[in-house]
Amino acid sequence: MLGSQYHHVNSMLSRPVPLTVRAGACLVVVAHLAVVACSRMPGRRTTNGAKMNGPLIAASATMVAAWEVPKTPLADTSLDTSRLSEEVRRGFRIFTNTPHEAPRLAPGGMSCSNCHMNAGQREKSLPLVGVAGLFPEYNRRSGRLFSLGDRITDCFLRSENTTGGTLSPAELPTPTSSEVLAVSAYLAWLSRGSEVGKNPWWRGQNAIAAAMLVPIDKLDPRKGEAIYLDRCVTCHGPDGQGVAIGDKTAGPLWGPGSWNDGAGAARVYTLAGMIRYSMPYLDPGNMTDEDAQQLAAFIDSKPRPVFPFKEGDYRTEKLPPDAVYYAQR
Ligand code: HEC
Ligand code: HEC
Repeated sequence: MLGSQYHHVNSMLSRPVPLTVRAGACLVVVAHLAVVACSRMPGRRTTNGAKMNGPLIAASATMVAAWEVPKTPLADTSLDTSRLSEEVRRGFRIFTNTPHEAPRLAPGGMSCSNCHMNAGQREKSLPLVGVAGLFPEYNRRSGRLFSLGDRITDCFLRSENTTGGTLSPAELPTPTSSEVLAVSAYLAWLSRGSEVGKNPWWRGQNAIAAAMLVPIDKLDPRKGEAIYLDRCVTCHGPDGQGVAIGDKTAGPLWGPGSWNDGAGAARVYTLAGMIRYSMPYLDPGNMTDEDAQQLAAFIDSKPRPVFPFKEGDYRTEKLPPDAVYYAQR
């Protein structure tokens, strides 16, 4: 689909990009964007010149780095034909192309990497490198310890809105579903060499500083909408449904194809923390804390699929003030 929005985004993206393609890197040109992808490069820059920060693509990198994956199991020669190696690769494919690899679990057509960008390897974009060894961990929403499988299952049910698809309650994913186990294998592979139980420095950086939080009732969705029309509409569309840019789709940010109202991104401050550091994708990190919160208040004022099990959430811990789709208790 080559709508005018696409061409507009396309021309923004095809600004000259410093290309330092080295031997052994695998080069993919997406449509007519000058974008290089699919590399596994050590050092401080990716193949197309995007900065690295430790093992992650730096938070300052723009959308030209969207197709880069610093570490991909598809190119890891230490992985063989064993069952585990196969599952690591399958988990990676599910993570980066959920609607294609696990269509029953992604009724909205969003991939895990829409939010955990660059296959979970982008700084300040909820990165997942080195987090496998931190589970089990206490989960406040559920009031109990969560295994990595529990956590992945929750992102399926809520962020991917699996509950809004065609599956009956008995068919919904659990920590022992094959897709969840495959993604666990990929995330465990992504944590090889990381210290078990040690929080990496890049974890938890998607939060807005406590001192900068605007009380929920002081946020104004109309202000958020004005910023949206100025800074987001080119890629996410006037109806929030998103424009296809090569094989990437931005959003949908609301409506039936979006995350459901029990997801982390349905919390205003959580969503603000995602937007603040990753968007707009051609100029990430330059949004004010307040603008990010106004935007999140606008996006999370919109209709989205209903998570059918919200009643069971926050039974042990207090309902957070930014969980705006929950009935106040
Ligand atoms: C709509 C955005 C979105 C999508 C899509 C999404 N997630 Fe998440 N994910 C989040 C948010 C937000 C959090 C953090 C919530 C919090 O704790 O504040 C999170 C947290 C996680 C965590 C825990 C990270 C940590 O450091 O503790 C894992 C693991 C995870 N997601 C895996 C997945 C997988 C696997 C998929 C695809 C099946 C997926 N996510 C899809 C938004 C998303
Ligand atoms: C240049 C295009 C572009 C602009 C402008 C842009 N985005 Fe995005 N956005 C994307 C793409 C592409 C993705 C998916 C990332 C991926 O798959 O790698 C995305 C993902 C997101 C996500 C994660 C969940 C999802 O729906 O995919 C949120 C939230 C988001 N954008 C919000 C915003 C907001 C708010 C703005 C305005 C401040 C904005 N974006 C501006 C391209 C853009």
